[in-house]
Amino acid sequence: MTDAALEQAATNPKVGAFLAQNRKNLINNEWVDARNGGTFDVVNPATGGVIARCAASDKSDIDEAVKAARRAFENPDWAAMPPSKRARLIWKLADLIEANLEELAELETLDNGKPFSLSKMVDVMSSAEAFRYYAGYCTKIEGKTVTPSNPFQQFHAYVRREPIGVCGQIVPWNFPLLMASWKLAPALATGCTVVLKPAEQTPLTAIKLGELIVEAGFPAGVVNIVTGFGHTAGAAISSHPDIDKVAFTGSTEVGRIIAASAAQSNLKKVTLELGGKSPTIVFADADMKRTVPGLANAAFFNSGQVCIAATRLYVEKSAFDSVVEGLSAAAQAFKVGPGMAADTRMGPLVSQEQHDKVSAMIQAGLDEGAEIASGGKRVGNSGYFIEPTILVNTTQDMRVNREEIFGPVITVQPVADLDEVARLANDTRYGLAASIWTRDISRAHRLAAQIRAGSVWINCHGASDMSLPFGGYKESGWGREMGFDGIEAYTEVKSVAVAL
Ligand code: NAI
Ligand code: MG
Repeated sequence: MTDAALEQAATNPKVGAFLAQNRKNLINNEWVDARNGGTFDVVNPATGGVIARCAASDKSDIDEAVKAARRAFENPDWAAMPPSKRARLIWKLADLIEANLEELAELETLDNGKPFSLSKMVDVMSSAEAFRYYAGYCTKIEGKTVTPSNPFQQFHAYVRREPIGVCGQIVPWNFPLLMASWKLAPALATGCTVVLKPAEQTPLTAIKLGELIVEAGFPAGVVNIVTGFGHTAGAAISSHPDIDKVAFTGSTEVGRIIAASAAQSNLKKVTLELGGKSPTIVFADADMKRTVPGLANAAFFNSGQVCIAATRLYVEKSAFDSVVEGLSAAAQAFKVGPGMAADTRMGPLVSQEQHDKVSAMIQAGLDEGAEIASGGKRVGNSGYFIEPTILVNTTQDMRVNREEIFGPVITVQPVADLDEVARLANDTRYGLAASIWTRDISRAHRLAAQIRAGSVWINCHGASDMSLPFGGYKESGWGREMGFDGIEAYTEVKSVAVAL
């Protein structure tokens, strides 16, 4: 069905054709409308215009998807597929992602707002790499034999590592395709089946990925993709009695709801990748030529809509003025504009809601006595643009230093007593990430051990690799994704003992 009211946003004719059709759910390798017939609008954050319509699914659609996933989990076509064949399917999906690079990247940019070059390099290419990394694991997921020492009974015993079952995966809007890929890849590598729900703000690349999954040749029901809102479709996943595990990335607030609902329904296993308020510690001896641009990127990359964004900067007092000056100059040089414009360095925020939230946080900072060193204003009258913003004169207890902002807004605080810096960095309910910038490598390692966060970077920020476990301490989440930890998160272990 074509709708004349849609904004013609696409430059690529394939993308135009994709957007012109109402997008459906993928259930059992078939494209179906929501059972209640509902749709919702997908908005281009650079203009505020509606560019597509997707299925507004509810519990009954999730029920159908879970049934398909359960059948697929038990079907020998998938359950008994040799791991090497599973690996080939996953690798083929990675090749198809690469072959559709331009189309996927444009969909991501129109849907989320981020610069097209970033969509290509980071979102699409890293998604392909996530599948390749986990394709390699298919043939290397092993149990072990153990040496029992029970004095009363002799037995031979071993431990099997088995797929956890039907997985619900709920992903956010900041890296839509990449977060879906981080979750799907280990689930498929271990032999699980999936019901995936993309965020209502950014469903398009997950749907396109569904087309590629069918094209790659995955058996029916292995991956089901259902679009819709959190309180309907999302809640139906976390509370579903026949889902064995739920994986979520998003707000700490919703993470709590999901954990509670998983506990109440069937104690399904839960992994959560939640918010952050990552400290960044800069010593006066740091190589400032690399540090200042590194900090600006860590703060404003993806319009600051990153769980690991470097939002609280602690700078050794003697370097404070020059770092604020350098960062302000870097921020002002960031070209803010639509993601499809070639010179854009920073796109809009994802939605009106996010724009309102970030603007309100800047105001809250000012109300509590913060001062703007740079930025602070809306850019243009349409779309959800905001300037990269640096706040100074803040204290630890201000909301801007305690709450996740999820926009291009950071605070910079001078630190006089360096013995205090670990305590300041850890003074947060979050524990996702941190970075340390110094030439003194011993100090960097000592401090890295003191920081209570899942990732600590030294003289860089956000270095991410499929081999590095990723996740949070404290209220930043439960469990880890990536690396072998990602495999563990999608497997159960079974002890088998045989009397001798
Ligand atoms: P959210 O946590 O509400 O949404 C993330 C996903 O959860 C979406 O797919 C949504 O549909 C789903 N969801 C929402 N409510 C649900 C429920 N009751 N049950 C099951 N699923 C549900 O995040 P939102 O509202 O889009 O953004 C709010 C804030 O969350 C942001 O300002 C940011 O601070 C944080 N956030 C953090 C992310 C991260 O990467 N850790 C990503 C996105 C948002
Ligand atoms: Mg929400």
